[in-house]
Order: sequence, then structure tokens, then C-alpha cells
Amino acid sequence: MKEVKMLEFPQRGDNRGRLVIVEGMQDVPFEIKRIFYIYGSDADVVRGQHANRKTEFVLINVSGTSKVKVLDGKGNEAIFSLNRPHTGIYLPNMVWKDMYDFSPDSVLLVLASEHYDAEEYIRNYDDFVKEVNNE
Ligand code: TYD
Repeated sequence: MKEVKMLEFPQRGDNRGRLVIVEGMQDVPFEIKRIFYIYGSDADVVRGQHANRKTEFVLINVSGTSKVKVLDGKGNEAIFSLNRPHTGIYLPNMVWKDMYDFSPDSVLLVLASEHYDAEEYIRNYDDFVKEVNNE
């Protein structure tokens, strides 16, 4: 699927443990304006279920595991497993995403290219399909 891709971040490990580095415009393809993280979601919960007109995201399971299903609204879909603290998935704007299958210890860190603006969310799938095909 166009542009959606897994990223691998540089790791520094020594006998004290590990350190993972994520720098804006270097390890992720945007300046990071916002972070949030999601934890305490049960295994049967589906989160996300929206597209963003403007915001690009990188999702990293810094602890535990989850899955992300991405749909482009043009008939393509892909499922990614987030299961290592030094990998993430890059999601461009205008893709539909569902996050699910959260492990009990899942902490899903999200880096965003924009500040929060509820107006740029598309929360109805049919509206998303219409909008993406009219671009
Ligand atoms: P929501 O978009 O439903 O979370 P998810 O990304 O899992 O789909 O957000 C949950 C609530 O938090 C909702 O009321 C909007 C609010 N919220 C903010 O105020 N700022 C933010 O940056 C985010 C991501 C959510």
C-alpha cells in the first residue's frame, strides 16, 4: 500500500539495557508536534476507526503488542503487527486505521505530525471512501 511502511529505529544497547532513538525528520518523516499513548485496552477492543485529512502518524508498541489494519479506501488493505519496541509503522494522512488485539501490557506510543484538531478526523468509513476517491 502506497507510503504505509514499517520503520526500524536505531538502538543503543549495553549492559545497562537498551535505548531507542526516534528523531523528527530523521527517523520519522515529519517534525513531531504531538505524542500520545494508548494503554489499558482490552484484547477485544478496536480503536482508531478513523482517517485523518492532515495528520501523519508513527505508531510504536514500546511495550507489549497490538495490530493495525490500514485501508486506503481504494480497495487495498494491510495488517501490521507491532511487536518490537524499536520498530514502528508510518501512516500517511488519508488512510483508515483500526488498532486491535492489544496485549495486556500493550503501551502504544503514537507520534503525530500535527496538533490535535477534531475537525480533521473522518469517523465515518463511507465518508472517507467518498473523500479519498474525490481527491
Ligand atoms: P480517539 O481518537 O477516540 O482515540 P483513538 O486514537 O484510539 O481512536 O480519542 C479518544 C479521546 O481523546 C477523544 O475524546 C479525543 C481525545 N483526544 C484528544 O483530546 N487529543 C488527542 O491528541 C487525541 C489523540 C485524542
